[in-house]
Amino acid sequence: MRNLLALSVVALFALSALAQENKEGVTKKKYGNMPDATQVDEYTLTNKNGMTMKVITLGGIVTEMHVPDKDGKFADVCLGCSNLAEYLEGHPYFGAITGRVANRIAKGKFTLGGKEYTLATNNGPNHLHGGKIGFDKVIWTGTIYRTEGAQSLMLQYRSKDGEEGYPGNLSVTVRYILTDKNEWRIEYSATTDKATPINLTQHAYFNLAGHSSGTILDHQVKINADKYTPTDDTLIPTGKIEPVKGTPNDFTTPTAIGKRIKDIKADPQGYDLNFVLNGKAGELREIAVVTEPKSGRVMKVSTTEPGVQFYTGNFLDGKQKGKGGVKYSQYGGFCLETQHYPDSINQKGFPSVVLEPGKKYMHTTVYSFGVAK
Ligand code: BGC
Repeated sequence: MRNLLALSVVALFALSALAQENKEGVTKKKYGNMPDATQVDEYTLTNKNGMTMKVITLGGIVTEMHVPDKDGKFADVCLGCSNLAEYLEGHPYFGAITGRVANRIAKGKFTLGGKEYTLATNNGPNHLHGGKIGFDKVIWTGTIYRTEGAQSLMLQYRSKDGEEGYPGNLSVTVRYILTDKNEWRIEYSATTDKATPINLTQHAYFNLAGHSSGTILDHQVKINADKYTPTDDTLIPTGKIEPVKGTPNDFTTPTAIGKRIKDIKADPQGYDLNFVLNGKAGELREIAVVTEPKSGRVMKVSTTEPGVQFYTGNFLDGKQKGKGGVKYSQYGGFCLETQHYPDSINQKGFPSVVLEPGKKYMHTTVYSFGVAK
């Protein structure tokens, strides 16, 4: 009898710990330490529906995102690593904030204000995602703040003049807002004291069936883009803007990712290109809808940005260690990275990525989760 009583007390404690964990709000705990002993924190945001996301201060990485399916069953739909050691071993920008300039800058060179700047070439001949230690690899300062109908975390980082070769001290704020409508809203802002290129995005890899459930080839994708920016074989835009019509890149009506993937002439094969979004940049408009047929999960994407990089995890090769010992294989996740077009700093015909002192960089993107009706 006494044993039974003790057991039920233990069970009660376990249950209340679980309830605590799933409680609406934001909690903070230590995630680990960097090699130089800097502490990395983990924030858990839970909305009133029980949707939960975990964020670490290393790179502002979203390590987990638990979203309900058509039967109300939750699954973690973001690819990621199991712990800090694995993130530090290296990963393909899972869930991270990328910058100062996301995507590629040809040959790592640009000229601004009559001065030539040289950046790291960390992707073949080109500069990718901010260089060797981009915004995905730095420690951000986290602050929990109050918002009506949402759980919110502010991440801040001050990138010094000359960091990774870029000009100007840049103060960056990224807000992650998990609303009670199951939206993950991201608000980016930045100011600088010297003219600098800036292009911030979120590099989350999604698999709406669950992060470890295989490929995303049967996900149905719609992208509101009539045009795209073709690239050379190092993924630098040629400068042309071409119609998607008649190409495997036409997602103007919902189409399975895998349907025409074999028609793409690239090595490795798959989508890795920038779509020129319809509608007015600067205004928050819906730009993509992704549906996973079995779970019924739907993700809608809205942004103020002019472009989106649609990347289907072509470089994942089954070697990358993932959460719970999973090895992510090719097409194990997809990214819809809302941003300006690649290599904009060197392309006269593309919208400018230059931020001047006294001006404010602003970008809002919303990933909204629901189920197919
Ligand atoms: C790029 C890909 C790259 C991936 C991971 C994407 O934004 O377009 O080419 O492989 O990031 O680094």
